[in-house]
Amino acid sequence: METVRHLDPETIRLFESKGKEGGPATPQVGIANGVKVRRVVQIVRDLAKKPMKNLRVLDLACGEGVYSIETALRGAEVFALDARTDRMKKGASAAQRLGLTNLQFEQNDVRRVNITSHGEFDIIYFLGILYHLDVPDAFHVLENIYEMCRGLLIIDTHVCLSPQIDVQYKAHTYRGSRWREHDDDDPEQVRRSRLLSSLDNTFSFQFTKDSIVRLLVNIGFTSVFECYAPLEPSKPDDRVTLVATKETHVRLSSYPWVNDKTEKDIELTLVEAEKSRDCYCFMHILRLFWRHVCVFWHLIYKRK
Ligand SMILES: C[S@@+](CC[C@H](N)C(=O)[O-])C[C@H]1O[C@@H](n2cnc3c(N)ncnc32)[C@H](O)[C@@H]1O
Repeated sequence: METVRHLDPETIRLFESKGKEGGPATPQVGIANGVKVRRVVQIVRDLAKKPMKNLRVLDLACGEGVYSIETALRGAEVFALDARTDRMKKGASAAQRLGLTNLQFEQNDVRRVNITSHGEFDIIYFLGILYHLDVPDAFHVLENIYEMCRGLLIIDTHVCLSPQIDVQYKAHTYRGSRWREHDDDDPEQVRRSRLLSSLDNTFSFQFTKDSIVRLLVNIGFTSVFECYAPLEPSKPDDRVTLVATKETHVRLSSYPWVNDKTEKDIELTLVEAEKSRDCYCFMHILRLFWRHVCVFWHLIYKRK
């Protein structure tokens, strides 16, 4: 049975106002964030291989840090960072009021975080940030995350439903579309004042869901899952929660041909197999046809 800690009214008020800075059109704000936080914490509870108190968790672009606070309340050692301090300061004050010495906040840019600067983590939260990055930054950040990750990466992101652009990275093609974050001539303070936007990049790149999955697999994650439950009744259609695991790649005895192949090689092998199957079918039909022709001639010849 989970024990619920009763938080002070100021902290509850902070969470109740979460996301409202984005205006009335922003989905899942205020108390609706509860379903998002519940989903992420349930994923950790269900899939982490260690008890919460033994986990080291990184929350990238943490905002006010509600995911970090909820995780730290369960005893994990949490490191939360965001490029803007406006909301993070409020979270840090709440953490202080709650006596959470196992939670640290830091102002930093996700594009500068790597294994050398921050070390390794059992779980990494990448929530509401992938779609604020442009390419190639998004590729580099996810590669750094892979290096830092010891177990699970949880991504919550918008995905592109009608891709318009293909981008190439390391011989792979990814689909998506560009999204304007700031005008080209917006000064730095104006960009920084948009608390729920990219830090400075004028455009971000929204990947399709398929491209995000392919990218994670190409980087090295062993499995990628999409989370459907716990339910999020107000989740927009273009938003998903993905969980990538970093484990050991399995090797098969039953189909050894798949071992040690890249995803691209596997796909090509299957295309070739399909082609030779089509060719086999064609030859088979040809043979049947020829057999019928022979029988037919034989019958006619015999009748004569
Ligand atoms: C939509 S909010 C998501 C906040 C939080 N992760 C959540 O899910 O509630 C996006 C956050 O990303 C932060 N951000 C944008 N670009 C960033 C960057 N390059 N580095 C770090 N944080 C960034 C913003 O300051 C903002 O707090």
